[in-house]
Amino acid sequence: MSILITGGAGFIGSHTCVEFLNAGYDIVVLDNYSNSSPKSLDRVSEITGKKFPFYNCDIRDRAGLDKIFEKENIEAVIHFAGLKAVGESCRKPLEYYENNIGGTVNLLECMRDHGCKKIVFSSSATVYGSENKCPFKEDMKVGGTTNPYGTTKLYIETILKDLYTSDNEWSVVLLRYFNPIGAHESGKIGEAPNGIPNNLMPYISQVAIGKRDHLSVFGNNYPTPDGTGVRDYIHVVDLAIGHLKAVPVLFKQTGVEVFNLGTGKGVSVLELVHAFEEATGVKIPYEIVDPRPGDIAYCYADASKALNVLGWKAERDIYKMCEDTWRWQKNNPNGYDD
Ligand code: NAD
Ligand code: UFG
Repeated sequence: MSILITGGAGFIGSHTCVEFLNAGYDIVVLDNYSNSSPKSLDRVSEITGKKFPFYNCDIRDRAGLDKIFEKENIEAVIHFAGLKAVGESCRKPLEYYENNIGGTVNLLECMRDHGCKKIVFSSSATVYGSENKCPFKEDMKVGGTTNPYGTTKLYIETILKDLYTSDNEWSVVLLRYFNPIGAHESGKIGEAPNGIPNNLMPYISQVAIGKRDHLSVFGNNYPTPDGTGVRDYIHVVDLAIGHLKAVPVLFKQTGVEVFNLGTGKGVSVLELVHAFEEATGVKIPYEIVDPRPGDIAYCYADASKALNVLGWKAERDIYKMCEDTWRWQKNNPNGYDD
């Protein structure tokens, strides 16, 4: 019996593959490599010393999915596959709705038709919108997303809840990630964004390696201690282990369970810059510029439900996140193209 990992070649997916293989699970990976490289999966095998089947397949390709479900004995799915760039989603909303929502509906139909009704879905703190006060708790009202990417997460959560209501055999775990950064400590896998990074940590590490000359800090007038935006950065390995702890829930019960995966601690942009400098000894020049439209001042989790129910908590601190990001970046200045 295997766990199917969609989007398994991506940043979070590849780290999750490592943790599942190390824990003795059989996995099957599916990815269309639209934002990743199959080399990440070779590296997963190098790290773990284990081989596993992987398929170049799109979640929108029903015939392709059917073949995988017919060939492999899939018991549950961890569903990472999706497009994730906030700015791009504003320019290309139809592509985002079609890929993320259309693709997920196609995957769910295929799962249902093959009698596989267990799924962990990669949701995001973005579903809490801008009205709730931090720390965000799982039982807060969700909605008010400000971009099509965030709306795909909100709608897919709704689709999965409706699916359970219609058929109580489904078991669904919605994991709401905060800000995943860091890399595996081997330095062999990590985040490899295409083009100019949108997110803070990949931008900082590209400044550190000399690819960009300075960081633009988006606003220093927020109502936060140093005026810059506060986020809940979580080490990607901790996040991957969160999935390992969540999977048994699928086998214990049916229903829909929601968990925040964050550290519960807020870190500002400038605090992250300084932590990176301290952890690596590399100076990060920066300039304060206008705030980025749509950004909120604070976003951090109440992570107590994951601790109480799953026995999971994030263990790796902000310095470890910086050290591991830097090792990955130094060893692979051009990501998987090196
Ligand atoms: P990623 O882009 O590295 O990984 C996503 C993977 O899905 C990629 O390998 C991509 O090639 C694949 N993919 C995309 N569309 C596909 C399709 N139609 N068929 C098959 N494969 C497809 O991103 P990530 O950071 O690893 O994120 C994984 C999941 O977690 C995504 O759903 C993302 O929205 C969600 N998430 C990420 C963050 C974050 O900050 N990284 C935060 C919250 C939620
Ligand atoms: N920032 C900068 N300069 C940059 C990039 C970011 O100052 O070059 C700031 C932002 O203004 C924000 C913080 O750094 O205050 C973090 O920004 P990121 O873009 O790294 O992350 P976000 O919190 O904006 O977004 C992330 C994911 C989204 C997800 C959201 C909520 O990228 O996919 O968290 O979960 F929707």
